[in-house]
Amino acid sequence: MPKTELIAAIHPELTAIRRDLHRHPELMYDVHRTAGVVAQKLTEWGVDEVVAGIGKTGVVGVIKGRGQGSGKVIAMRADMDALPIHEETNLEHRSTVPGKMHACGHDGHTAMLLGAAKYLAETRDFDGTAVVIFQPAEEGGAGAKAMIDDGLMTRFGIQEVYGMHNKPGLPVGQFDVRKGPTMAAADRIHIKIEGKGGHAAAPHRVNDPIVAACQLVTALQTISSRNADPLDSIVVSVTAMNAGEAFNVIPQTVELKGSVRTLTPQMRELAEKRIKEVTAGIMTAFGMSFVCDYLHGYPVTFNHAAQAEFVVGTIEAAFGEGKVDTSVPPTMGSEDFSYMLEERPGAFINIGNGESAGLHHPAYEFNDEVIPVGVTYWANLVETAMPAKA
Ligand code: NI
Repeated sequence: MPKTELIAAIHPELTAIRRDLHRHPELMYDVHRTAGVVAQKLTEWGVDEVVAGIGKTGVVGVIKGRGQGSGKVIAMRADMDALPIHEETNLEHRSTVPGKMHACGHDGHTAMLLGAAKYLAETRDFDGTAVVIFQPAEEGGAGAKAMIDDGLMTRFGIQEVYGMHNKPGLPVGQFDVRKGPTMAAADRIHIKIEGKGGHAAAPHRVNDPIVAACQLVTALQTISSRNADPLDSIVVSVTAMNAGEAFNVIPQTVELKGSVRTLTPQMRELAEKRIKEVTAGIMTAFGMSFVCDYLHGYPVTFNHAAQAEFVVGTIEAAFGEGKVDTSVPPTMGSEDFSYMLEERPGAFINIGNGESAGLHHPAYEFNDEVIPVGVTYWANLVETAMPAKA
C-alpha cells in the first residue's frame, strides 16, 4: 500500500486516541495515564523496545529499520502534558477534568508521533534505528532535561533529534522552519529589597524601598536600550512589584519579579551580568540591602544549520515547493526541546494548525486534519535520513 493510503488508513484510529487524550488531560510529570496509553499502543504495534519511566514519566520506543547498515539513530520527540486551564469549548471530546486542558495541542503531538511509530513499525522501510520520545512536563517542568539527565541520549545511542509544534494561524499543510535561534531562552529574576519602613509623614526618618525599587525598574529598561546591540533581541519585563498596604506607612520591603528573554548565549550572559550590576548599583546608591536572584529557565532553542536544511528538503520533497517558510522571525516564547538541541544536532519546526484560537487559550483546539500531515512528515524524515538499501 502506498504511504499516503497507509497513513490515511490509520487517521481515524489516531484521531480517536487524540480525542481520548484530550478528554483526560494531565499536568507536568503527572502524566501516568497518558504515558500508559503511549506505552500500550507502542507495544501493541510491535515497536521493538518500549521503555517507560525515563525522566519520571517519559516513554521511549525503539524501531529498527529493515536494514542496519547505516548505523544511524534518529530520534523524534513529542510532549504529553496539558495546562492548568479550564476548557471553554463545547466539543464532544472536551476535557473531563475541571481546570485542566490540552490547550497547547500536546495531545495532537503525541498522536502524530504515535502514528509515525505505528507506520514505521509496520513498514520498516529504512536503514538504521528510529527512536520515538514522549516527554512529560514541557510546560515549565523541563521534562526534556529530566529525560536527558536520566540518560536518554546515551542509553539509546541517539545521534540527531527532531521536534515539532503545531501553530495556530498557519494553514494546514504548511510548515515554518528557521536556522539558528528559533525560540528564546526564558529566565526569571527575583529581587528582594529591604529598607527601613516608618511613618509616611516622616520620610527623613525612614529609608524608602519603594522609591529605590521604582528607580531600579526604570534602570533595568536600559539593558535592552543602552547595553544590547540594537540588532540583538533582549526582553526584560518586571512583572510583579509587591510592597506595602497602608496609605500612611512606608513599607520595610519590596519584592520584584520578572522575565528575561534572549536569543543568544551572549545576550543571555549580558542580561544576567547587567541585571546584577544595575541592581547592586542602585541599591547601594539608596542604601538598601537586597538579594538579586537570576534563575535560569529553558535555554535558546537553536536549530542546527545542516539539520534545518535537511528538514526543509524533506518537507519540499513530500509536500511540494512553497510549503515551508524559512523566513519566519524567531519568537520570544520558549520550549524545553532546547535542552535536547544542546545535546544533539537537530531541528524544531512548526506545523500549521489552521485557523484556531491561540495556544494556551481556553478555546484552543488541535486540528485533527493535521494528524496525517504530521505523520507523513515524521515518516519521511526517517526514510530520507536513513534510506533503505535496494
Ligand atoms: Ni506547547
